[in-house]
Amino acid sequence: MEIKADGCDGSLVLIKQGAEARVFESTFLGRRCIVKERFSKKYRHPTLDSKLTLKRLNAEARCMTKARRLGVTTPVLYAVDPVTHTLTFEYVEGPSVKDIFLGFGLVGVDEERMTDIATQIGNAIGKLHDGGLVHGDLTTSNMLMRSAANQLVLIDFGLGFTSTLPEDKAVDLYVLERALLSMHSSCGNVMDQILAGYKKSSKQWSSTFNKLAQVRQRGRKRTMVG
Ligand SMILES: Nc1ncnc2c1ncn2[C@@H]1O[C@H](COP(=O)(O)OP(=O)(O)O)[C@@H](O)[C@H]1O
Ligand SMILES: [Mg+2]
Repeated sequence: MEIKADGCDGSLVLIKQGAEARVFESTFLGRRCIVKERFSKKYRHPTLDSKLTLKRLNAEARCMTKARRLGVTTPVLYAVDPVTHTLTFEYVEGPSVKDIFLGFGLVGVDEERMTDIATQIGNAIGKLHDGGLVHGDLTTSNMLMRSAANQLVLIDFGLGFTSTLPEDKAVDLYVLERALLSMHSSCGNVMDQILAGYKKSSKQWSSTFNKLAQVRQRGRKRTMVG
């Protein structure tokens, strides 16, 4: 087995090609890992672009680490490589919440399991938000359930940022609510259960919920008045 300087010792198998990143499965010092490579958008100025790509790469790594410090489970970060624009992290064994919820649509909802997952989701977001961290892309594909521990793991902090504004937190929840309504209509009151979990873990829940009510009225865009 060849071990390269960066610790990656396996071949790279592409598992997702996105608009701003490619995600590969590989091994890192013998452990199964994920390698996420950010690439440039060809229409941007090359120098500016490289700077932006690096900025996002570092921001994603920092947000993941911060989430972990706040007590939210995220994959362990193994390496950050500014030259190849890659992040390498622990491979989480288990299905995405998206696949679990879609399964409920096919074979019927396991209420107990759904409540458990929804509570974990709400708890995790409440902790992030109280710590001043906004995920920025809360969809069920960015949530994995580690099979061994039945534990929620949040991934994909590529759009994450720090903020203490109730507005930003409310929009974070609103994005998730819309995603659940469109993709997981069979999961009924799952958002209520998520909000119940959120309320338990966030001391600032009431200002966030007030804003959420406003955001629901107008959609996620800020109004231009004032
Ligand atoms: N640590 C991980 N363990 C297992 N699978 C992962 C991990 N990170 C990402 N994935 C898989 O790769 C997909 C894309 O990764 P993600 O970080 O969400 O990239 P993107 O920004 O392209 O959405 C995820 O939806 C998930 O299926
Ligand atoms: Mg994603």
